[in-house]
Amino acid sequence: MKKYPIAKPYIKIKKEWKRLTFSGDLRNTLMPTNSIYKKDVSGETVMAGGITMPVFAKVGDTLMIPDFAKEEKYVLEVLRSGVLSIGSKVEAFEKKFANFVGTKYACAVSSGTAGLHLVMIGAGIGPGDEVITSPFSFVASANSILYMGAKPVFADIDPVTYNMDPVKIEKKITKKTKAILVVHIFGQAADMVPIMKLAKKYNLKIIEDACESLGATHKGKKVGTFGESSVFAFYPNKQITTGEGGMIVTNDKKLDKLFRSLRNQGRSENMQWLDHERLGYNYRMDELSAAVGLAQIENIDFLLRERKRVAEFYNKFLSPYQDLLQVPEIADFNTHTWFVYVVLLKNKNRDEIIRQLANKGVATKPYLPSIHLFSFYKELFGYKEGDFPVSENVSNRGLALPFYIGLKESDIKYICEKLVKILSNG
Ligand SMILES: Cc1ncc(COP(=O)(O)O)c(C=O)c1O
Repeated sequence: MKKYPIAKPYIKIKKEWKRLTFSGDLRNTLMPTNSIYKKDVSGETVMAGGITMPVFAKVGDTLMIPDFAKEEKYVLEVLRSGVLSIGSKVEAFEKKFANFVGTKYACAVSSGTAGLHLVMIGAGIGPGDEVITSPFSFVASANSILYMGAKPVFADIDPVTYNMDPVKIEKKITKKTKAILVVHIFGQAADMVPIMKLAKKYNLKIIEDACESLGATHKGKKVGTFGESSVFAFYPNKQITTGEGGMIVTNDKKLDKLFRSLRNQGRSENMQWLDHERLGYNYRMDELSAAVGLAQIENIDFLLRERKRVAEFYNKFLSPYQDLLQVPEIADFNTHTWFVYVVLLKNKNRDEIIRQLANKGVATKPYLPSIHLFSFYKELFGYKEGDFPVSENVSNRGLALPFYIGLKESDIKYICEKLVKILSNG
């Protein structure tokens, strides 16, 4: 196996991480969805911080990433200010975020899941209601409906975009349906024009789970601007990160006020701190996280451009092999912001392919399981295999390839060559 002279990618934001060294061969460091393996001080290979902020990786001689001077500066400003929560960085981050997405309001919260919980409350979802959503998503989207005592009703997905199919949504509408929780999966918008028509026709609310798709557009309109409220997430594998965090956006002033109260233990803006006007939560984003988020949103153009660059190299190397695999497709009128790069294998033995790729130093991951087949969903609702065949088909064949900012063309080529060779032999 070829050895790469790039022994020391490093993380800039946390000084002690500089002591960690990558395993000597980059091949051993390629992880799907942005994880990076390092050796810890005892020499053992570990995942740095679980999943690190991949944008910090320095690869070889080419620094393909910005340095994080701005994140450091803003975080230091917070530390030196002594205001670690409810301060100016959250406000500044919210303002810039709303401006980027194109909504009037943005309300920072502690995670995407917290944001989804609050938008469900805002939409007035409750026991006995049904909310139509995608089975092909991260579990948090459907769970947010369960938090309200309501029922997530799944509609199967489109085999090209992996987003909900509007025709299948319509078939699931009943008298109990209150809303459609649209998930924009993997960085690509759902088919919003027919979905908005359905909402109008049946008087349903639209809520967007845009956690994976910051910056993506449909017919020139950004995700997050279609629904009455929408949620983004900032876990480290997302387009921008705050470590943990999320953002709710809306054009509705009343809803924005409600979200601000709910995230802050039910206090209203001008209330004495000892009083609470409703049942609330502590879903606030702290100032340190917001400092990182602010620096990241100020750098969003670069971050999205880099994700696109990596995806385009994968497309270039894999597109000639459509007999072996399906590369991601971008639907007409969509732009993609590449949360992950997932191919669908035609070869059935995915586990064996993952194993063989691992032997070549390329770590890959099955991606993404269908929610209705999780054990507690099966127990709660009696779902079984075959209920949502398109989602299951994608779940059974999807393979996430290493994807992070700074991944070099030569490494992408290596990964693709190994994948194609293994698939051709299989
Ligand atoms: C589609 C989707 N919804 C919701 C979430 C939840 O976000 P968080 O992990 O910040 O709670 C995620 C993030 O992983 C996601 O991918």
